[in-house]
Amino acid sequence: MRFFGRCGRRIRSQYVHLMERYVGIRPSFSLIYRYRWAFIAYVAVKTFFFLMFLRMYLLSSSSTSSPAAGRVFSFQGSDFNSNYLMDLTNFTYLANPPICGESTNVLAVVLVHTHPSHIDLRNTFRRQMPQEILAEIGLRRVFLIGQANKGQSLYPSVKQSEIDAENEVFRDMVQGNFEEHYRNLTYKHVMGLTWATRFCSHAAFIIKMDDDIAVDLFQVRQLLQFRYREAHNTLLGLVQTDNHPLRTNHSKWKVTQEEFSGNVYPPFLSGWCYMAPMEVVKKLAQNAHKFPYFWIDDVFVTGIMAEDLKIERQGLNHLYTIHSALLECCTLEQFSPKKYYCDVFAGPTSGDNNLYKAALDQFYYCYRKGCGRRTGTEILIRTCVVTPKETPYGRGVGEVIAL
Ligand SMILES: *[C@@H]1O[C@H](CO)[C@@H](O)[C@H](O)[C@H]1NC(C)=O
Ligand SMILES: *[C@@H]1O[C@H](CO)[C@@H](O)[C@H](O)[C@H]1NC(C)=O
Ligand SMILES: *[C@@H]1O[C@H](CO)[C@@H](O)[C@H](O)[C@H]1NC(C)=O
Repeated sequence: MRFFGRCGRRIRSQYVHLMERYVGIRPSFSLIYRYRWAFIAYVAVKTFFFLMFLRMYLLSSSSTSSPAAGRVFSFQGSDFNSNYLMDLTNFTYLANPPICGESTNVLAVVLVHTHPSHIDLRNTFRRQMPQEILAEIGLRRVFLIGQANKGQSLYPSVKQSEIDAENEVFRDMVQGNFEEHYRNLTYKHVMGLTWATRFCSHAAFIIKMDDDIAVDLFQVRQLLQFRYREAHNTLLGLVQTDNHPLRTNHSKWKVTQEEFSGNVYPPFLSGWCYMAPMEVVKKLAQNAHKFPYFWIDDVFVTGIMAEDLKIERQGLNHLYTIHSALLECCTLEQFSPKKYYCDVFAGPTSGDNNLYKAALDQFYYCYRKGCGRRTGTEILIRTCVVTPKETPYGRGVGEVIAL
């Protein structure tokens, strides 16, 4: 009985006691010896669960608000029946219309980050692409918002009654009870992912986008349906590599060492528009609470978390433009707008509602009528010339946009 070692007697008696208690037999020592590994594994598992329980108990009792009490067994991050959103312990949906419902056959749900005050952008998107047209191609759309009734320095505040009235008409806004703020966008992002896993889990993908980005959802849908249908453990979008935290003092966007200590962000996807299979969305939503909150939401979700969870990031960078002028060219008569697809699937509108409308018009036209592709010297990045505004060094010479 080498196994029992020096303090054999005491261990042996506890061992017998435990066997008696959990296995219901009073074993002989040869039996004990034969099943020693099973027993050790059993004790290890028990210990593990005990420590998990202890940890959750300590976590919940250290928070002052009571909603955590009695919830120590519910999994914090998943939100399947909890009031948690990352470290917010009193999270609730103030609005949660049935966008996906019971309908099957949802290819993707489009999660649009929008500020409550951007009603014009939302209405343009709604008018140009109503839910019926989206449904025709297997998509659903929700706008994600927080609460903005307190007044903010950079944005107008929006009364809750106005939001309620808008949602009464369109029933397409999911609202969380956190305050709308650019430093709270990570809450919004994780809320969107969590919401999708809970209320639209039968969608094969999510498409996360911002409200000022024109996205050709018809073409994105083709991509998802045909090229990336089997995509697995990956995010698809505009990959950003070698991006550095902004350390400039006094900048709104300054990132302190405490917030992010590294010198370079992990490769991440621009929050302008990215795509993810639901399986990846689940992984992200279930793990978000394990990471310290970082307010730059696309870096946090698609960079920091994706890196740690070993989720790939696949760059479709050639399908994006970072210049709103390229979209503008695509919609101008001189570039034969109605004949060709815009060479890219997504680009910024710089909040220009007319450009947004024109771009969505063009996308819809091509979906209905079919368009050709520009090739060779016709492609927009070769032909789309903008005259930069006068600068101290500028000579007013037209400049070809380089991507
Ligand atoms: C929790 O949220 C609800 C809904 O927003 C609010 O009415 C309540 O006062 C909050 N409770 C705490 C403790 O913050
Ligand atoms: C973010 O939201 C939380 C919860 O509503 C709020 O307490 C906090 O003040 C907000 N953060 C900012 C920077 O406004
Ligand atoms: C910001 O300010 C701190 C303290 O005044 C200084 O040490 C640091 O070099 C400054 N950083 C930048 C990027 O200017």
